[in-house]
Formats: sequence, C-alpha cells, structure tokens
Amino acid sequence: MLEISRTVRFCLSDGTPAGGSVAPQETPRANTFAAWPAMRGLGRYYELEVRCAGEADPATGYFINIKQIDAAVREHVLGYLEDVIASPAGHPADAPLGEIMQDMLALLQPPLNDSVATLTLRLTPTYNLSLTESAMDRVLLRQQFDFAAAHRLHVPTLSDEENRAVFGKCNNPAGHGHNYRVEVAVDAPIDPAGHVVPVAELDELVNRRVIDLLDHKHLNADVPQFAELNPSVEHIAKVIWGLLEDQVDHLGSVPGARLAEVRVWETEKTSCAYRGQEAGTA
Ligand code: NI
Repeated sequence: MLEISRTVRFCLSDGTPAGGSVAPQETPRANTFAAWPAMRGLGRYYELEVRCAGEADPATGYFINIKQIDAAVREHVLGYLEDVIASPAGHPADAPLGEIMQDMLALLQPPLNDSVATLTLRLTPTYNLSLTESAMDRVLLRQQFDFAAAHRLHVPTLSDEENRAVFGKCNNPAGHGHNYRVEVAVDAPIDPAGHVVPVAELDELVNRRVIDLLDHKHLNADVPQFAELNPSVEHIAKVIWGLLEDQVDHLGSVPGARLAEVRVWETEKTSCAYRGQEAGTA
C-alpha cells in the first residue's frame, strides 16, 4: 500500500467565489506553489493536505495523479468552503470545523476513487486539523508552542569524565539554552453540533500547565519535575505529556478528548515525540 500526500494551497476572499472568475478545473496559470486562487486583499489562506492510499500502476508507477488531487480540491472543496463562509450559520468564528472536515472528505472521495485516507486542514502555520477516513467521528487537533529554557545534561551517578563523554558540550557545568518548540496533538470527538475542541482552550491549557512552568527557567534548578530527572529532550517530552495527559478530557463541549502526541524540538534538526507508550527521536 502506498500513500501519496499532496498539499493544495488556496485563498478565499469574501465576495469573490473561488470558482467564479476562473474555472477551478482549468490548469491555473498563477503560482500554485504560493496558492491558487491567489490572495486578494485581506483574503484567507489555507492549506489542505490530502493523503490518498492505494497501489501504483505497474506501467506508469502512478497510483494517483497529483493533478487529479489538485483538481478535486479546487473543483469540490473551494466552492463548498465559500458557501459555508457565506451562509448565515457559517460565520467563520462559529464554523463547525468537525462537520466541515467530514464534508470535505466526503466531497473528495468520489473524484479520487474513494482513496482518501487522511485530510489535514492547516488553518495557521502552527494549528491544523486532521480527519482520518477510518475514524470519521473524531478529529486530531495539533497546535505548536514555544519556550526558552536552560538545562544541563548530567547524571550524578556517572563520573565527571563519563558525563563529559556521554553528553559532551551539553554537560557544561553552567548549562546552556535552547529555544524549544512543542507540538501538542489532541484526538477529540466531534460534538453533535459538528464542533471540535476550540483551539483557544488548548492554548490556555498548555500555556497554564506547561509554558508557565518551563519558559525562561533553568530546567534542572527551577523545575521540580527535573530535580532528579536529566532534562533530555526525551524526558522533556514525557514530562509535558504527564502535565497534560489527565487534563485534555475537560476540553471541548463533550468528554472524550485524548492526548495523542507531544513532540518537542530542541533544535530545528532534533525532535522527540512521545505517545504515552513509546518514544522516538527524529
Ligand atoms: Ni541541550
């Protein structure tokens, strides 16, 4: 089984139907890498990632033509979103995001031969929603946060020489700092009105439980969780998981939200994801 991932970027501008001035099924001549339709005035910018699963044709090597994905999004999703935004019940601030994700996935299945496995709508550079075909009643909500902190990697049971050998510069006695980035993923039910957990609720929770505790601190000296725990990126991910695990069920209008993943980037090149049972560094 193969999975093709295609990100389609587009802009919606109030009062300008997406497919109105330019037929969406035409090959756009504008810059589709940036977005098509292009931004007009203070329009809205979105990215929709479509993941299709299937087998490749032995002759062409193609499972699905990416142009088919682009065309399906522009032909079936853009007009739908314009209509939702324009409808009295579809005010952008109150839009039922869970129902919209379900609708978009359903609209894309026929033109893509029922191959859509996952749909991800990126609403901001840090916040996105994913819907998986096999679990249409739940949405995975991801949001990113950042904090700056100092730490020293050091294990008291090892000698100074052994600590330097294992941790290198990270064993510097006075510590060193990082600008950490954290992505929290919450798997949440879609409520009867089609809504999911408001991202503002997740922002408030993570800021209160995690960022206030860690930001501009020396992790070893200032944060009780690391008093006897080496503050490696693996341990930071696990500590953040522990701070949030039993809190996310309170998010949203219906119970049942679960913490799905905590990923911590120590640098652009190094991150660690924790999902409750197994940790992996990427
Ligand atoms: Ni470090």
